[in-house]
Amino acid sequence: MCFAIPGKVKRIDDKIVIVDYYGEEKKAYNDIDNVVVGDYVYAQGGYVINRVPSEEAEEILAVWRETFFELQEVDLRLSRLDGGGANVDSKTRRILDRALESKPVHKEDLLHLMDLTDPSAVELLFKTANFLRQKYLKNSCCIHGILEISSYCREACAYCGLSAHHQALPRYRMTPDEIVNTAVEAIQDYQFRALVLQSGEDPGYSIAELAEVIRKIRSRAPAFILVSFGEVGIDGLSELFRAGARGLLMRFETSNPRLYAKLHPGSDLDSRILHIRKAYEMGYLIISGGLIGLPGQTHEDLVNDLFLAKELKTEMYSFGPFLPHAGTPLAASRPVDQIEVLKVLALARLIDPEQARVLVTTAYETLDPNARRKGLLAGASSVMLNVTPLAYRSRYDLYPDRMYQNTSLETQINETITLLSGLGRAPMDLGLR
Ligand code: 5AD
Repeated sequence: MCFAIPGKVKRIDDKIVIVDYYGEEKKAYNDIDNVVVGDYVYAQGGYVINRVPSEEAEEILAVWRETFFELQEVDLRLSRLDGGGANVDSKTRRILDRALESKPVHKEDLLHLMDLTDPSAVELLFKTANFLRQKYLKNSCCIHGILEISSYCREACAYCGLSAHHQALPRYRMTPDEIVNTAVEAIQDYQFRALVLQSGEDPGYSIAELAEVIRKIRSRAPAFILVSFGEVGIDGLSELFRAGARGLLMRFETSNPRLYAKLHPGSDLDSRILHIRKAYEMGYLIISGGLIGLPGQTHEDLVNDLFLAKELKTEMYSFGPFLPHAGTPLAASRPVDQIEVLKVLALARLIDPEQARVLVTTAYETLDPNARRKGLLAGASSVMLNVTPLAYRSRYDLYPDRMYQNTSLETQINETITLLSGLGRAPMDLGLR
């Protein structure tokens, strides 16, 4: 997974390929050689990642065909706006109506929605976001895998359980061979088509080693590889891109520079943002976002975060709750109310209705076991599954009691497929740039 289905190449226009999926045409950038019209390909994140033999592709498409249209119907039913919200205040209705007409939403509008307390108004916000998600992205749900390769970190971020503050944490670092083998297994045996490699800022790997890991993975198994190793420098980013990385997962954490400086001693927001901007210019697909509920953070900060994510050309919005960790300076903070998280996901949909992939994060699932269902019905369109070997998972201790710490990959996949089919979502992402 992203259990992407193969598409058939209809036209080729230099490096741009037009791919057909059950009658729907999508564009992708051609990242491999020898593609010709009539080939079947897997595309992810806007890139063609490999060719699929015709027989195999036709078999997969035949199996999926019926399910595909059935799921679409379920989703359509669940995302209908049934004329509810009659007793919702007129300002909220006006804002949501504008959003439904695809008119731009302004900062004051988002602030108003973020401040809502009336449950029926909040409900209408979620339904509107879900409606927009269905309208533009249909029922495709993007499922990426994430492989946490090392929990060593040289940074001292005040909220993070991997930070240097947490000295009691036993650390691990996977060897390059282990990383390659685990990634290849996720791609070949579990059919992930998009995989994030993540670590703390670990000086234990050189960029050259990480680049070699990516090269090896891509030579053994085709996938869309995203990197998330923190601030590796602009040269580092371009070396990783040359090795075949095509996505960057890097949150800016908060768009408030003062709050950022307080939480990240010795670092500044500008440097973070520069990484993201440069990565986008290099051709990386961007996953970014921030933490919700940081001490001192206001609703205005959160709305600014959403605008910053959009400005940075974020393809997938990754916003999750801050969960206080006992081994950090923010141990005594109060966890955020789950409704705040859901509002931010819905607002991400409103601010970028046509393009945004909106992620339900594991942190949100840790806060609320029904997070996935709730999030997917409030504008979200993607989830990430943890493919880190079980032996290491609990040592990637970002925050306490992380969901799926002891859940095998098989179980995670089965649970995800069951949930998605109940919601009429197809575990794939046809949305190509
Ligand atoms: N609560 C929630 N998320 C956290 N992260 C780090 N620490 C915490 C925490 N205590 C998130 C950061 C980082 C990502 C890898 O994990 O946003 O970008």
